[in-house]
Amino acid sequence: MKKLTLTLVVFLLTFSSALFANEGMWFLMHIERLNQRDMQKMGLQLTPEEIYSINNHSLKDAIVQFNGGCTASIISSNGLVLTNHHCGYDKIAELSTAEQNHLKNGFWATSLEEELKPQRSYVRFFVRMDDVSNRILSQVNDSMSEKEREAVINKEIAKIQEENNEGGKYTVSVRPFYQGNEYYYFVYQDYNDVRLVGTPPESIGKYGGDTDNWEWPRHTGDFSLFRVYADKDGNPAQYSKENVPLKAKHHLPVTIDGVKENDFAMILGYPGRTNRWMPAEGIEQNVNYAYPAWVEGSKLSMDVMKKYMDESEGINLMYSSSYARIANYWKNRQGMIDALTAHKTAETKRNVEKKFNKWANKKANLERYGKVIENINNYYKLTNDRARHANYLRVLLRSSNFSVLPYRLGSGLENYANANEAQQEQLRPRLQAMIEGSYSAIYLPLEKDVFAQQLSLYTSKANYPLPELVVKVGEANNNDFTSYISSIFELSMFSSKERVAAFLEYPDIEILKNDPLYKLSGELLAKYREQPEELKQPTNDFQASFRLLVEGLRQSGLSKIKYPDANSTLRLSYGKVRALPKDPRNDAKINNYTTLKGVVAKYQPGDDEFDLPEGMVDFYNNKDYGRYANERGELPVNFLSDNDITGGNSGSPVLNGKGELIGLAFDGNIEAMAGDVIFDKKLQRTINVDIRYVLWLIDKFSNAKHIVDELTIVGN
Ligand code: ARG
Repeated sequence: MKKLTLTLVVFLLTFSSALFANEGMWFLMHIERLNQRDMQKMGLQLTPEEIYSINNHSLKDAIVQFNGGCTASIISSNGLVLTNHHCGYDKIAELSTAEQNHLKNGFWATSLEEELKPQRSYVRFFVRMDDVSNRILSQVNDSMSEKEREAVINKEIAKIQEENNEGGKYTVSVRPFYQGNEYYYFVYQDYNDVRLVGTPPESIGKYGGDTDNWEWPRHTGDFSLFRVYADKDGNPAQYSKENVPLKAKHHLPVTIDGVKENDFAMILGYPGRTNRWMPAEGIEQNVNYAYPAWVEGSKLSMDVMKKYMDESEGINLMYSSSYARIANYWKNRQGMIDALTAHKTAETKRNVEKKFNKWANKKANLERYGKVIENINNYYKLTNDRARHANYLRVLLRSSNFSVLPYRLGSGLENYANANEAQQEQLRPRLQAMIEGSYSAIYLPLEKDVFAQQLSLYTSKANYPLPELVVKVGEANNNDFTSYISSIFELSMFSSKERVAAFLEYPDIEILKNDPLYKLSGELLAKYREQPEELKQPTNDFQASFRLLVEGLRQSGLSKIKYPDANSTLRLSYGKVRALPKDPRNDAKINNYTTLKGVVAKYQPGDDEFDLPEGMVDFYNNKDYGRYANERGELPVNFLSDNDITGGNSGSPVLNGKGELIGLAFDGNIEAMAGDVIFDKKLQRTINVDIRYVLWLIDKFSNAKHIVDELTIVGN
């Protein structure tokens, strides 16, 4: 069965993309040319101009990137922003204290004045985009090394940015696509005053925790609400009491008519990264070297962190957001290993590469493409051990604040110490703010433990030339770093905010240079960035060959993929509401949605992941769902669609054919994890919160009807 699916997928991927209506993360400017007819056949009623227009207001004006890594949408004329709970999570935690615990208890502002401003939070509006491939690629030629190429391209990019940023009003980003075979620029406008309006308790917003994460059937109310503020003229402004809610150009109407099987569903958002063109040996490297290290390191950090987080609510609030981030990718990477192995994805790719090589060896192609596969395979062979090492080190750097913070702060302090008094005066406020920010959520016993244990894993498993200092200490202590870490935390000024701040008063460069945490952190980061001499040529050839592989796959027709890999640029994905085969774990009539009944069925009082807030069970028993019930009288909670999305799409609006909000995307099923490398039409699903659950939670469960009154509700 699996084999058959696989052959089919390969066949279709290779020969007929038209049948893969739901595969693809499309550029808005290409919809008219590439997707319009298909989408209309499936149920779209909007014109391409109503989705993306440069001159008129369009759907795109209601879609924002949220704090760099997520997506959100504008859902009222007063700048109300809807995103996932897991996207607002770190801000909600930051705004919580053990006494006023919004993460735990939920929060609803009853007026604008009560809305809460986190330290930093921004939304990014998309203004327009355009193709600059010819302009950029006319600057390069085939005899350039990759370094030379990059330098020339960066120069041209800087010009394009300068020409389009309107004197700093806009942020302009120029990005490569198809592995550097095309370039587009994107114009954005950022708003930096974004405040928390409301959130359900974590027991709803993260219901099911890491057990249910990446799984279906699902019962999570994964949403939170923010509001964008602007100055009185609607321009971006730093936080001020005088700021007013932004009157956005467009906001999404919300429908309470609900969804059914085969309904058209489209998602606009900022998918982070896919690798659909990744070569076979790259997949092998990830499965056998990179991801196992990532998984092992993450699990270690999670276990250590959890121990301390369980000690007190205060510590839990400091670390729950980083913990969730690590846990999310821990499960994802293991899922990738399993899925890519089960589906023999590398083998599939290898077959395509064989065909490519045949094509490349034709006389007319030989010179340009003849060495492509050889160069690519050679590079991966040379870097397998390095990839494992890099992933142990990456997880160490990501989970231990004190592996990074001393070097980051310290290099600022070094500049400061070397500056004259006037310059120091200038530098001081920024450094003070940096110090303040760095130590605001730090619990030293946890930090020491994570750092020591990560170092120990790194030295015993990374199997690669390690930083000198780490080797020395490891050898002297049988790879047990506990007492070493303990003693350097005693000695270092970086173990306390006060000591670092005191350095600003008496900057002694010798003390800084000899600081043991500064040294250790510096060595680890230098190792992470190191480019060994012997890899320079193979890396250069790999980059050039990968670009040529994609060029050749497109030219030869061996791949008909007409959309570029995700890279945190705005995309549209369209598909349908689509069930999975019947599943005994889902009590809903059709396995394309779940209900509050299913939520209550999973309830485990007092459990970390499956507890419910007070009142939920009563609401269920009383069936008090009002206009948010479906035609069967149930309260719908989540639903499935077959859109092609990935991380970064979190918080994206799911829209029906009329451009009305039907839900928000928040996850994929297990099968969707491999989707970053290969799209499986049959099994891959996007998991969405039904907008009626969101509205019910706000209106009935949380008694915040004033928020629902702000929306443009249609239907029923
Ligand atoms: N898997 C989701 C994503 O990557 C994140 C879900 C967060 N929830 C959790 N239990 N960690 O977008």
